[in-house]
Amino acid sequence: MSNTAGQVIRCKAAVAWEAGKPLVMEEVEVAPPQKMEVRVKILFTSLCHTDVYFWEAKGQTPVFPRILGHEAGGIVESVGEGVTELKPGDHVLPIFTGECKECAHCKSEESNMCDLLRINTDRGVMLNDGKSRFSIKGQPIFHFVGTSTFSEYTVLHVGCLAKINPEAPLDKVCVLSCGISTGFGATVNVAKPKKGQTVAVFGLGAVGLAAAEGARVSGASRIIGVDLVSSRFEAAKKFGVTDFVNPKDHDKPVQEVIAEMTNGGVDRSVECTGNIQAMISAFECVHDGWGVAVLVGVPNKDDAFKTHPMNFLNERTLKGTFFGNYKPRTDIPGVVEKYMNKELELEKFITHEVAFKDINKAFDLMLKGESIRCIIRMDA
Ligand SMILES: NC(=O)c1ccc[n+]([C@@H]2O[C@H](COP(=O)([O-])OP(=O)(O)OC[C@H]3O[C@@H](n4cnc5c(N)ncnc54)[C@H](O)[C@@H]3O)[C@@H](O)[C@H]2O)c1
Ligand SMILES: [Zn+2]
Ligand SMILES: [Zn+2]
Repeated sequence: MSNTAGQVIRCKAAVAWEAGKPLVMEEVEVAPPQKMEVRVKILFTSLCHTDVYFWEAKGQTPVFPRILGHEAGGIVESVGEGVTELKPGDHVLPIFTGECKECAHCKSEESNMCDLLRINTDRGVMLNDGKSRFSIKGQPIFHFVGTSTFSEYTVLHVGCLAKINPEAPLDKVCVLSCGISTGFGATVNVAKPKKGQTVAVFGLGAVGLAAAEGARVSGASRIIGVDLVSSRFEAAKKFGVTDFVNPKDHDKPVQEVIAEMTNGGVDRSVECTGNIQAMISAFECVHDGWGVAVLVGVPNKDDAFKTHPMNFLNERTLKGTFFGNYKPRTDIPGVVEKYMNKELELEKFITHEVAFKDINKAFDLMLKGESIRCIIRMDA
């Protein structure tokens, strides 16, 4: 056991006190892990658009003060009662949607929607006692999606941690903790394009580029990238994107533009924007008879999906997925091995790096559309 086990740890965390206001570096107290919980020292974290939505809280339930962050890599500091699978020193990736290994979903080969630990964006407390493990001078600070990685130490349920190869560089594989696994898995596990098929990817951020990468390794003949920012196309070529459509350049709906480009529609589409109109277009741009569309972007809480039922009757399929259908504990160690074996390249997703104290710069870069992934170094 480490010498801090069982004690409160004081460390730095970036706290979101209010919606849309810059995060503030604070000294927080992190309580020891309780039953089935693990305390982790975070070494690297990165920013995913989902953090930004819940920080802005425009279309989401506001939960403040809160420690955001869910894409990260770290080392186990101590474990709580009942934890046998992890020990201090293990290298781990926190995952926002967990795997208890006991419920019907965890036992099903098809689902990663664990009954106990599936993503819950509105809960700000731990399951064991309904309380937060973070506080500042006695004031509780809420958790985010069970991970809260914008802190030097955080506490998670053991089911939200993937134990990975200790040789894997955490400053690279941390991006597998959310975005890259999500996009890649959405294509290879859910959309499942066949060799030679056409794929449209809506949104060319890290998640969409990982979806394109999944299409490339599946042998897609044509990958059509759709984004409102034309400069995204240059970077997207490295991920196998062959054609680019900016909806702003056309005076008709983008689904019609894509249908014309592809003789009736693409075989598969993957939506990675979070925009409801893009979700509808991603569905309506797939070919009738066999087309499959997969939604990945996180919608606003009041969004509703509207399409004519005839689009389904004409044999189009609409699916959605969290975390690319991967089971975090069972599957992610293998995805890390793909990187170690050079079957999956992560470096090309990482465009920026900042010190923890400059975390707000990572938000600016994402909001301006300048970064794909920005790694935040906790020790700098
Ligand atoms: N389902 C999951 O498990 C899961 C996991 C991670 C992220 N997400 C979601 O995936 C989405 C992408 O995340 P990211 O980190 O790559 O974000 P990002 O901001 O880096 O990329 C999003 C891209 O979408 C583009 N875009 C926005 N609206 C568009 C529209 N109407 N048409 C075309 N392009 C549009 C933006 O210009 C941007 O390039 C977000 O909604 C995020 O919340 C979902
Ligand atoms: Zn994410
Ligand atoms: Zn479960």
